[in-house]
Amino acid sequence: MPDARRALEEEIAGLRRQVEEQRVAAEAQQRQLERYAADLRETFKAERSRAQALSRSYMDTVRALSNAVEARDAYTGKHAERVAAYGLEIAQVVGLSVAGHPEIEFGFLLHDVGKVAIPDAILYKPEPLSDDERRLMERHTVIGWEILRDIDFLGEAKQVVRSHHERWDGEGYPDGLAREQIPLAARVFSVADTLDALTTTRPYRLASPLGEGRKIISGAAGGQFDPAVVEAFGRIPDATLETIRREVG
Ligand SMILES: [Fe+2]
Repeated sequence: MPDARRALEEEIAGLRRQVEEQRVAAEAQQRQLERYAADLRETFKAERSRAQALSRSYMDTVRALSNAVEARDAYTGKHAERVAAYGLEIAQVVGLSVAGHPEIEFGFLLHDVGKVAIPDAILYKPEPLSDDERRLMERHTVIGWEILRDIDFLGEAKQVVRSHHERWDGEGYPDGLAREQIPLAARVFSVADTLDALTTTRPYRLASPLGEGRKIISGAAGGQFDPAVVEAFGRIPDATLETIRREVG
């Protein structure tokens, strides 16, 4: 009987040792997992800040390019930045996911990049353009698209550059696209572009008040502009647009 009892005690002691070994091993494993998790968190943080730095440098590059274009065209001031801000407001109301396609803003900023190839004599001509001059001027859309064509990160932005003078009724250029054939971002942009053109002073005319600009844009719904975009634009309060005009002016 004492032998049997000793054997039982030894077996229990053996089991306790095993349990203890397993506990120590589990703790070691737990510590290792915690180290992995901490490493992963660090890697993720570093990766995120690299991605943020990259997207900032994209934005800086695009702004530099857009400023280079605007520097030639002194009277429009910060036209591209204002139009981009108006465009982002309209895009939000119309349900165009700028968050899903951040490069759309680049397209708004770079819309007229093709004007670098248009001679001063045409770009600044105060009188109406001849047919040939007008055709050349209209090429700024395709030239802009060609300049940006191979830049992958610009994605949808390139379509805005190419199609920002298309019209809902199909009478625009360069491709004569109509209705939904025109990329939504370009349909949004053309309303923003016209709003800025109407509400800033140009050498040949004074700025229209915002209400007047709204009336002209509403009148062109279904002709120059997508009616749904005009409707979305109509829902943006005056105060929002005035703030953009003041702050980016
Ligand atoms: Fe343009």
